[in-house]
Amino acid sequence: MGTLDGRVAVVTGAGQGLGAAEAVALAADGARVVLNDLPGPALDGVVDRIKAAGGEAVACPGDVAEWATGEALTRTATETFGGLDILVNNAGVLRDRMVFSMSEQEWDTVVRVHLRGHFVTTRFATAYWRARSKAAGRPAYARIVNTASEAFLLGSAGQPNYAAAKGGIVALTLATARGCARYGVRANAICPRARTAMTGDLMGPAPDGPDPMAPERVTPLVTYLAGPAADRITGEVFVVHGDVVAVLGPPTVRAAFHAAAGRWTVPELDAALSTIFTEDPPRPGFVCEDTLPLAPSTFGEESRDG
Ligand SMILES: NC(=O)c1ccc[n+]([C@@H]2O[C@H](COP(=O)([O-])OP(=O)(O)OC[C@H]3O[C@@H](n4cnc5c(N)ncnc54)[C@H](O)[C@@H]3O)[C@@H](O)[C@H]2O)c1
Repeated sequence: MGTLDGRVAVVTGAGQGLGAAEAVALAADGARVVLNDLPGPALDGVVDRIKAAGGEAVACPGDVAEWATGEALTRTATETFGGLDILVNNAGVLRDRMVFSMSEQEWDTVVRVHLRGHFVTTRFATAYWRARSKAAGRPAYARIVNTASEAFLLGSAGQPNYAAAKGGIVALTLATARGCARYGVRANAICPRARTAMTGDLMGPAPDGPDPMAPERVTPLVTYLAGPAADRITGEVFVVHGDVVAVLGPPTVRAAFHAAAGRWTVPELDAALSTIFTEDPPRPGFVCEDTLPLAPSTFGEESRDG
């Protein structure tokens, strides 16, 4: 018996890398899985692997940022397997470039696949869960695992499109967690690290023997967040790789000032704010590098700006 027996999951970008590993892991834990990726043999190969291992899976190919694909994923889950319980948004692409050299298309492609791709699937899945919850008169079983990245914390200098999209995904996760809580939806985001086609150049070849950066090191957290034990977890952001699972805390108010006369003047602002902005040259103050030491042997160091 798996913790996901009887559950139905959708995984996007499941043709390779993290998405393939997540789909295989969810199926191994009992879920019936609808796998999405761009059409091609890779996606069918993962479906075949799941079936060969005794699992149930079906391919639903298509560009995840297309409205019709989002609709088709929820419909395929309900028509093929009788429902939808888990949505794992994972599909993604990179078009790395410094902001001053980036083309319109490089920006649009990355923001479209990641951010719009997360929204479109979420739109149809949450509409389904809202209707199911209202019909039953109680919250639905509904889990969303979104895929962000530490790039949004670091302000990755060569990835303004990707960092912005991933920051947007965290905001979408929080809005979904708040907006759909009453229907039973639990929405969380992971910032994974794994050796895949996306990161192979950066991380280099896998070592002999077990790979500590294998995508399979990420999948237990995804399966856990999809499962019944994670019912109390929502609107959270995790960093996950190797042997690490870290829970991020929310941003804090670093300092607050009140205008003496109720309304600020520029000189008064200068007097107040220059007490905390003392570094010369200034460094981006909102950047969070706390996660880098969690795995100094991977690409963490590479992501520092400057
Ligand atoms: N690998 C890492 O270390 C790492 C770090 C941080 C975040 N991530 C995120 O994890 C997710 C998976 O990355 P990965 O490393 O497995 O990369 P990957 O390149 O191996 O896999 C991405 C998959 O998404 C699919 N895809 C791309 N565009 C699509 C579209 N429009 N519609 C449907 N599918 C599409 C690709 O075909 C591919 O199969 C991505 O969102 C990525 O940003 C990965």
